[in-house]
Amino acid sequence: MRPSASTKFNNPRARYNFQGRSCSVSGVGSYVPGKVLTNAQLEKMVDTSDEWIISRTGIQERRLAAPNEFTSDLAAYAAQRAMRKAGVSAEQIDLIIVATITPDMPFPSTACLVQQKIGARRAAAFDIEAACSGFIYALEVAQQFIMSRTYDTVLVVGAEKLSSIVDWEDRNTCVLFGDGAGAAVLQNRPDSHGLLTAVMGADGDKADLLFMPGGGSRCPATANSVASRLHFLRMEGKETFKNAVQAMQTAAEEALRRCEIDITRIKCIIPHQANRRIIDAVGERLGARPDQLFVNLHRYGNTSAASVAIALDEAVESGIVQRGDLLLLVVFGAGLTWGAAVIEW
Ligand code: ACO
Repeated sequence: MRPSASTKFNNPRARYNFQGRSCSVSGVGSYVPGKVLTNAQLEKMVDTSDEWIISRTGIQERRLAAPNEFTSDLAAYAAQRAMRKAGVSAEQIDLIIVATITPDMPFPSTACLVQQKIGARRAAAFDIEAACSGFIYALEVAQQFIMSRTYDTVLVVGAEKLSSIVDWEDRNTCVLFGDGAGAAVLQNRPDSHGLLTAVMGADGDKADLLFMPGGGSRCPATANSVASRLHFLRMEGKETFKNAVQAMQTAAEEALRRCEIDITRIKCIIPHQANRRIIDAVGERLGARPDQLFVNLHRYGNTSAASVAIALDEAVESGIVQRGDLLLLVVFGAGLTWGAAVIEW
């Protein structure tokens, strides 16, 4: 297949307005729970300090969902905000994709619960599990459905209640994570701007760097698995850090190469918000200026699949991003997985 004459970028993998179709971001929205957990409060829970957390990660506080507030609730709130901004009704949505590692339940999918909560009765619904890379994976899958003419309107959500799988006695991990959700409405609007390309990658050899041992078919819940704390996430921080920087650089460079654009043309880089030092290292390796990097992790910590979606919404709301600007989203997560996307806003 060759790009149509109206294709703006030369590479067919940068599919802006490809054969009369485009994957346009019609609206984004986000939601974070009201309850704030500060570093000072964490000092009372585990042997840590505000100074250690800020100097090693940049995180100052994170949000926690209420006991009766689940991932599907956070997702539905973010989705409704994105739909409002897109001017899209629930009936118009053809497909809902929710990226999460903290589904309400192993099944049914959280996407089905979101479908019910927002009243999108016509929509098909499924979840994607690619940890912190989930939102970019979901964007790429949504783009395939739109470009192939299967669907015209797809709702993509990244949502997490990570507080439900964090070991609040493990200082190595509990200071890092928070709860929240972000959403985007993607539509075929050939006369508009949109998602140019999305890159995805994975390395299952490194699955044991970041994982949750219990709760699956390998280690179903038993009194013993609960007592052994197997239903909490575990992480090799240093190795994860090194892999994150390398993978995010590679993914971002591949996305830029496909679009045949230089980093200097990117108005705003929206990286996965895991650690300030990872973000700075990736920015430096890409040759980006510090003012190109959007950072909000000091307020939310790492919200996994929700992270770049919340940051994208806040970047747009802040006015940094204007119509026609080029954005680079870049992510990394358990799996290992990674991804990047270029959007013309
Ligand atoms: N407070 C105080 N001390 C701590 C804390 C804490 N909260 N956590 C760990 N330490 C201690 C450790 O016990 C260790 O002590 P020791 O040397 O006596 O054994 C020491 O601090 C470790 O320090 P560093 O090695 O300097 O820690 P590092 O600089 O690697 O920072 C961190 C740790 C923040 C976890 C970092 O490695 C990191 O961010 N890694 C990447 C994490 C990440 O991005 N994960 C998300 C992936 S996305 C997803 O899919 C969910």
